[in-house]
Amino acid sequence: MNWTERHSSLRLITFAGMLPLLLACGGEDATAPRAERLILSNVHVEGYPTAEGLRDFERRVKDDPLLGERVALDLQLGGVLGNEKETLEKLGFGGIQMACTSVAPLAEFSGEIGVLTLPYLFRGPEHMWRVLDGEIGAELLGSLQANGLVGLAWYDAGARSFYNRQRPVRRLEDLKGLKIRVQKSEIMREMVEALGASPVSLGFKEVYTNLYTGSIDGAENNVPSYRSERHFEVAKFYSYDRHSTIPDLLMIGAAAWERLSGEEQAALRQAARESSAAQRGFWRDYVTEALEAVAAAGSQINEVDDVEAFQQAVEPLYAKYGAVYGSLIERIRAVD
Ligand code: GCU
Repeated sequence: MNWTERHSSLRLITFAGMLPLLLACGGEDATAPRAERLILSNVHVEGYPTAEGLRDFERRVKDDPLLGERVALDLQLGGVLGNEKETLEKLGFGGIQMACTSVAPLAEFSGEIGVLTLPYLFRGPEHMWRVLDGEIGAELLGSLQANGLVGLAWYDAGARSFYNRQRPVRRLEDLKGLKIRVQKSEIMREMVEALGASPVSLGFKEVYTNLYTGSIDGAENNVPSYRSERHFEVAKFYSYDRHSTIPDLLMIGAAAWERLSGEEQAALRQAARESSAAQRGFWRDYVTEALEAVAAAGSQINEVDDVEAFQQAVEPLYAKYGAVYGSLIERIRAVD
């Protein structure tokens, strides 16, 4: 036997000897269900309350006796997989399996849920949570089915107000002529127009650069995002008019959902709900911290003088969308 022959027979012996071992520890067992990889995309950075909520969800999935074995959750934060419009497109064709996005861009893909983006719809956060945690919220989650999505749990995203580089907004006139970034949402565009400013649709991760270069004057968002995306560094005036209270939503694509058993689906929904309760707590803490941080960095924060004028200015949207959302608007308003 020359060297090459001896070497290859040695290899055979070694491989044959290892075979049972390979089968026992790493070899595929054809009867065991394969782990379902669920890529979950979100735009927020580590430490932001929504990201914390999703980390909480990840832990719950891992620790769940049923899901721990079955699901390999792959959480991608910070918008590395794209802004929300692209994320929703990917979710639609199965490029990713889960997402947590604002309802505003989602409304472009799905009907009824857009009602939540109407300005001054809710009387405040408590009212919004009573609606979302109640019958209407469940109905709206269910309405996503028609679009191949399964809504799992609402996340807090606070109230949105305007901020800009030029001046404090105290009255409606102060918004005149300002170029304001809006989400990819028709209602948000129309709202900004109704308030007298010019809307510019941009992805969340494009806002900082555009503020920096001055191609937009401002944007509108909650204080946590104003802080975490460092918009306060370039747009110093934050003015509370609280025009919209639009939640974020944790969801899964229908194809991935269908691959899970009924029990696994129930466990996933439960983990999502529990993470939503945790996220609301993270949110409350972060709002205070964010306000202190932006004030310390020199942001000027004010309340608008006459919020009724803002509410009146957006009334035409109700005339238009009343026909689209039918009785949903009245039902939401009728919730105590
Ligand atoms: C909020 C919301 C995000 C959204 C962002 C935006 O931060 O939580 O989901 O992307 O607003 O204005 O685009």
